[in-house]
Amino acid sequence: MKILTIETSCDETAAAVTEGTEILSSVKWTQEVHAKWGGVVPSLAKRAHEERIEEIIHRAMLNVQCSMFNIDAIAVTVGPGLAIALEVGIKWAKKLAAEWHKPLIGVNHIEGHILSALTPEVVFPCMALVISGGHTQIIRVDEIGKYKILAQSLDDDIGEALDKGARMLGLPYPGGPALEKLAAAGDAKKYKLPLPMAGKEGKAFSYSGLKTAFYRLISKTQDSRLNADLAACYQAMVFKHLTRTVRLVLTNTSPSNPSPNLGEGSQAVQDLLVGGGVAANQNLKKQLEELGRELGINVRYPANLMLCTDNAAMIGVAAGFKAARGEFDDLDKIDRLPRWRVDEII
Ligand code: KG4
Ligand code: ZN
Repeated sequence: MKILTIETSCDETAAAVTEGTEILSSVKWTQEVHAKWGGVVPSLAKRAHEERIEEIIHRAMLNVQCSMFNIDAIAVTVGPGLAIALEVGIKWAKKLAAEWHKPLIGVNHIEGHILSALTPEVVFPCMALVISGGHTQIIRVDEIGKYKILAQSLDDDIGEALDKGARMLGLPYPGGPALEKLAAAGDAKKYKLPLPMAGKEGKAFSYSGLKTAFYRLISKTQDSRLNADLAACYQAMVFKHLTRTVRLVLTNTSPSNPSPNLGEGSQAVQDLLVGGGVAANQNLKKQLEELGRELGINVRYPANLMLCTDNAAMIGVAAGFKAARGEFDDLDKIDRLPRWRVDEII
């Protein structure tokens, strides 16, 4: 089944053609208009999606020399994401589905990120770590389509924390990749920052306290602008909090329960799927792979960096599994779900 997919949940205007887990074409356009505002401005995102979406869909189809006659279904991200940005993609998906009499599939953006690292070797139940600008979640994947959120952020998300920290150092948006580059030349031990501890027994994420501590440190430091040591210290602490929480949740250990117990059932979890824009960070990748070796878990990443950040191909892959289960959406009822949780049945 060939699926044409549209993704407009944030600041990437994207379209793809997929067949099962095979990506036949994937095109995305990153909106640069947000850079000067230091973050995504929803009204600008909406307008930019409207300006480019038709061309992006056209290019995705052209890449595979595909006509609408060869497409079996239309898929679109319906949430979570920015409401007015999601609407642009949904409107186009509905229009194409109606004009060409194709079935329509609404997809959860987080499910796309989870499945972006899927390979045939993955054993279920497995775990997923979604780390992006708007999400920091550890999810148990019982099977494709059946998820349970085990941990998430109580305040800022990891990508947001990196973006804000980078901005304090005078780096451009998106800050994650810029901070990674600057931090590579810095000494991560030069300054002290507090390691966050959040939730019951440390099994939740929280980045707002660390961000505030970083702001204070910057205010006290001369020549903070583009300072590689500050960048390295901040990035190191952001990732230390992440990996420590992942370890606690995956092994289900805590000070009161120190014996490792991977997974919640009797079956040990063998795989951790990592997705989302922050997964593009090579420093973090090394740390997570090291953790995987220590715990005896296969840490699985998307095949390339383009599949870490937002894209339509991952949404198309998720749509393929939904189609195989016969889960289609009603053209008149499909609507944006800006706060849709991946473990919510709707
Ligand atoms: O998944 P994504 O494209 O959009 C959301 O769903 O949020 O993630 C965007 C986030 C931004 O915060 C960006 O700074 C971060 O991913 N990011 C990175 C890297 N590349 C993108 N963070 C750290 N290192 C990177 N190389
Ligand atoms: Zn995303």
